[in-house]
Amino acid sequence: MKRTCLAIILAAGESTRMKSSMSKVLHPVAGRPMIANVVDSLVNASISSVALVLGRDAEAVQSAAARNDIDMSAFLQTERLGTGHAVLAAKDAIAKGYDDILVVFGDTPLITAAPLLAARQGLADGNDVVVIGFQTADPTGYGRLLVENGALVAIREQKDATEEEKKITYCNGGLMAINGPKALELLGKIGNANAKGEYYLTDIVEIVRAEGGKAIAVEAPETELTGCNNRAELAMIEAIWQKRRRHELMVSGVSMIAPETVFLAFDTQIAQDVLIEPNVVFGPGVTIESGAVIHAFSHLEGARVGAEATVGPYARLRPGANLGPESKVGNFCEVKKAEIGAGAKVNHLTYIGDAFVGEKTNIGAGTITCNYDGVNKHITRIGANAFIGSNSSLVAPVSIGDGALVASGSVVTQDVPADAVAFGRARQEIKPGRAKILRERYQAEKAAKQKK
Ligand code: UD1
Ligand code: CA
Repeated sequence: MKRTCLAIILAAGESTRMKSSMSKVLHPVAGRPMIANVVDSLVNASISSVALVLGRDAEAVQSAAARNDIDMSAFLQTERLGTGHAVLAAKDAIAKGYDDILVVFGDTPLITAAPLLAARQGLADGNDVVVIGFQTADPTGYGRLLVENGALVAIREQKDATEEEKKITYCNGGLMAINGPKALELLGKIGNANAKGEYYLTDIVEIVRAEGGKAIAVEAPETELTGCNNRAELAMIEAIWQKRRRHELMVSGVSMIAPETVFLAFDTQIAQDVLIEPNVVFGPGVTIESGAVIHAFSHLEGARVGAEATVGPYARLRPGANLGPESKVGNFCEVKKAEIGAGAKVNHLTYIGDAFVGEKTNIGAGTITCNYDGVNKHITRIGANAFIGSNSSLVAPVSIGDGALVASGSVVTQDVPADAVAFGRARQEIKPGRAKILRERYQAEKAAKQKK
């Protein structure tokens, strides 16, 4: 869209009903503060600038909303006198001059770009105010949209509505687009003569019509306009978000056996022909390449899983885990900040941290990279085609060469050259017949005691 657009995000609310030590717009949805999801949709709706209207936790909210590809300014609304008053807190930004002004709420994180673009299109088509509405079975509490012959005549807040108006099920989602050149003048005319004594942004509809301007409503799905007031609604919003994203991924070629048990983050990337088994959790920053299998009960965060690799069941990939193609990380293994080479296997009960594991190397059950000395972290390097015997401790910093073999139970404290064997445990002693002698002696002692 060629028109310029300033988006104003209202986020000055007290968040009282969240019963929280932080502003509700900082609570996470899809693994990041909900306000960041709003900003994302705005960017997808091709806006040029964002103005934040902040109250509580202003600095934290500003940094949660920030991103480096968009011009953003912040304004404090010190008194909370209503949505009309809140928008005017950003009047310096509005005064810079934009074709479109888009007003959205920071606590409505399910909004997508489509209704925002539809509202902007409404302005491009010659309307002065375009309100995003929704149909609902239970309109209680929302402003009702009074529509006549396709024109939006007024928005009536619940407390000011007549019994007849309360029956209307077409409601104000709260988000709207306003003709930029006219915005300051229209907003300045909003008063507070209503049941709540607040400056209602919604009054702009009647104001613009009185001046001979045009207002319309565009409809969006109710789910997209779900606002978050308490933690039950937060959980509901998360559930809707998850359902929507799982569906997108499945339609794009990802298999999920029990999708309702798979939890994704805002940036989870999963390629075609990946299979996700039940009960898998993705934190932020995960990429899964084609043909990989994530077995049940695995937890991944900040990790990349190469093509055809397999993970789990019960695996944990922490930030910096980078699994090569066809590699395997099996049950009860944890991998952190480590590269696992193509075709390498880390199959059972292992911790690999701050490490490089070469191609086709086999890491035996119970191997631990001892990466931390209590103060500093150190690196373990393991070459290609190496074999680490079960229950070995690799005390970093340490290197194990290509093709080397570490005997099981070793504590490896020195570098192992390529193709060498490291035998790092006490040698076993055999005493023939000794067990039988001991057993007979103990039995005799026991019998002697019983006789006494
Ligand atoms: C508003 C709409 C209502 C709509 C509903 C949809 C008005 C007058 N009413 O009602 O028609 O159906 O949203 O959810 O606009 N805020 C500020 N500063 C203020 C007041 C509000 O930043 O002084 C922010 C809040 O943090 C919130 C948003 O604006 O994010 C909406 O305010 P809220 O008080 O929740 O409006 P509603 O009464 O729900
Ligand atoms: Ca609200």
